[in-house]
Amino acid sequence: MRNNIILSPSILAADFSILGKQIKEVEAAGAEYLHIDVMDGSFVPSISFGMPVIASIRKTTDIVFDVHLMIERPERYIEEFAKAGADSITFHLEAAKEPGNVIDKIHSLGKRAGLSVKPATPIADMVPYADKLDMLLVMTVEPGFGGQAYIPESTERIREARRIFTERGLAADIQVDGGITADNAHVVLEAGANVIVAGSAIFKGDIRENVKNMRKAFAAFEK
Ligand code: DX5
Ligand code: ZN
Repeated sequence: MRNNIILSPSILAADFSILGKQIKEVEAAGAEYLHIDVMDGSFVPSISFGMPVIASIRKTTDIVFDVHLMIERPERYIEEFAKAGADSITFHLEAAKEPGNVIDKIHSLGKRAGLSVKPATPIADMVPYADKLDMLLVMTVEPGFGGQAYIPESTERIREARRIFTERGLAADIQVDGGITADNAHVVLEAGANVIVAGSAIFKGDIRENVKNMRKAFAAFEK
């Protein structure tokens, strides 16, 4: 048995001057989630956007908001992101003092909880939280910027994460984020990922065509 394969286009690569329109396009093309990257200029070098942008696009769509917090001490803002319209909130293991409490907080607000690990963080570090998680995000690039290349060592890390969940009888989602294209999606799917984030590969060029190509790459794993 395997979890459904979900496409989560990352709006970091969108044209923000026509963001609402582009969200409609990915939704119409059949994407299930919208990946929303929040960066604080401290946990990662860059700054993206925050609650007001999320609240504003929330009014335009019912698509699942998959919020990826790349911020220090995420516990400070869980309630605000929930209020802004997040359906799923993912924070970084490296950024939280008490990850277990953050997961509980997200759940207490009725949202799905995700935990993310940077490429250098051992996958084993997530084991204490495995049974609480709705999703593990295995970063496949160094977080902070779109348009980077997939780190090949990620494949074995995805496999390890899937093994850990399976051994414990857990069916959590495994998300991958960074450098995923229609050409390499099969690598992460084969390793056990099932929630696929893609920024540049969806928003650069023809959105509808890009979603279609990504779906084609998923098809072999959806039998
Ligand atoms: C990187 C972000 C990603 C980014 C992915 O820190 O978390 O979500 O938007 O962009 P691509 O798919 O272009 O690598
Ligand atoms: Zn992301």
